[in-house]
Amino acid sequence: MVTRVIPVDPFDLVIFGGTGDLARRKIIPGLYRRFVAGQIPVGTRIIGAARGALTDADYRDLARKSIGEFVQEKSRSQEKIESFVAALHFLKIDAMAENGWDDLAKMVRKDVVQVFYFSVGPRLFGPLAKRLNDHNISADNARIVVEKPFGHDLASAQALNQELAEYFDESQIYRIDHYLGKETVQNLMAVRFANILFEPLWNSQYVDHIQITVSETVGVGGRGAYYDKSGAMRDMVQNHLMQLVCLIAMEPPAQFDPDSVRDEKLKVIRALDTVSPNDIVRGQYRAQGDNPSYIEDSENPESKTESFLAMKLKISNWRWNGTPFYLRTGKRLRARKSEIAVVFKDPPHMIFGDNAKHRCNQLLIHLQPNEGMDMRVTIKEPGPGGMRLMDVPLDMSFAEALGEAADNITDAYERLVMDVIRGDQTLFMRGDEVEAAWAWTDPMIEAWKARGDLPKPYDPGSSGPEDALMLMHKEGRRWREIT
Ligand code: BG6
Repeated sequence: MVTRVIPVDPFDLVIFGGTGDLARRKIIPGLYRRFVAGQIPVGTRIIGAARGALTDADYRDLARKSIGEFVQEKSRSQEKIESFVAALHFLKIDAMAENGWDDLAKMVRKDVVQVFYFSVGPRLFGPLAKRLNDHNISADNARIVVEKPFGHDLASAQALNQELAEYFDESQIYRIDHYLGKETVQNLMAVRFANILFEPLWNSQYVDHIQITVSETVGVGGRGAYYDKSGAMRDMVQNHLMQLVCLIAMEPPAQFDPDSVRDEKLKVIRALDTVSPNDIVRGQYRAQGDNPSYIEDSENPESKTESFLAMKLKISNWRWNGTPFYLRTGKRLRARKSEIAVVFKDPPHMIFGDNAKHRCNQLLIHLQPNEGMDMRVTIKEPGPGGMRLMDVPLDMSFAEALGEAADNITDAYERLVMDVIRGDQTLFMRGDEVEAAWAWTDPMIEAWKARGDLPKPYDPGSSGPEDALMLMHKEGRRWREIT
């Protein structure tokens, strides 16, 4: 299977925070892979901007190292690396001061697509946008890319939106949620809207419940100070899990274009009920062996921040009323696994009797690792002795089904950066979407703070606090194992 690559025209990409972690781990390696795929033409310029004093040669060295570390060996070739790094430059710039900006103005062309990637903390978004404008650097075809966290609550997100809107039109603002760049996440839309099979069943008449698990084995060590102000709700649920809920729950858009898709997602967020405290379980990991506890990782002995969150979500609209969505995410859990399970109802009348051991149908969407989907169907257990039933997977691992083309599954950042260059906002969050997500999140956080709720401790390597299991057990349902 051959993967089509459509090259773009030469562009100028400026990475503010050009020596930072995201640039080194994701942006530069991703751009290199697109260059190797033939998508980035000669004449493109990638400009790292940061406060340090680096030369072009130093920056090219940094890029060589990051490619060496974060690109698979089979995609690395000395010759390609050298032609790629020749497109890289470095500029010393201070977002909060005037030095460096005139040099940037001289360097960035106005007659090509300009991308300004704000790979920095949100407090610098406004000052960067202002200086790009004041120094007459950004042209009409400029695009800015902003990273999460986009605000800390509704008020701060609104303030950020207003700040950016002073200098850039909404059509120029690309708010990244890297979950939207994951191959299987986009496949959710293909599965739902390019097949006739699922859509008729995709509602509360046929779906018993939906479970979404994003579990990680890492702790928060190294970024405890950020995480402790955020917690699982702000770090994962308000954005990544919310986007997954939207793609599963939304109505079919009339077209696959940015606003049609984002209008439908927004309707889902606006239809979310506030979750009652009885349907939320917050947890915090304990220490285990040499592994520190959350309290030690966050360096905050008083911390009430959750490193785990499970909740039962209701969507009040025609399609989903009566079908709960169970979400859970956490650090230091048993395995790294992101999965969506659409669990269907039982057939209205079972003809095979109680001994048949019927299991309900499930559509499992594996986001990571081992991207793919499988559908659990019920068949007859082989052999004589009556009609006993068993549950078997109709498996579609992308690696198996796609063969070599599975190697071309791009990293989320790689795909999203190319979408910015092409000017496609479909996989980026619109300002009103982010605000609606915060408007849903804020009252729950405020309420548990006001009550002084403490997160429940859980053992590293487990599937979270016992109460999270009870969230489903008490309703006769079960979480899928985290393995
Ligand atoms: C980030 C969160 O946005 O997503 C991290 O800030 C989390 O806490 C990460 O670990 C998970 O991303 P992925 O792609 O590894 O699932």
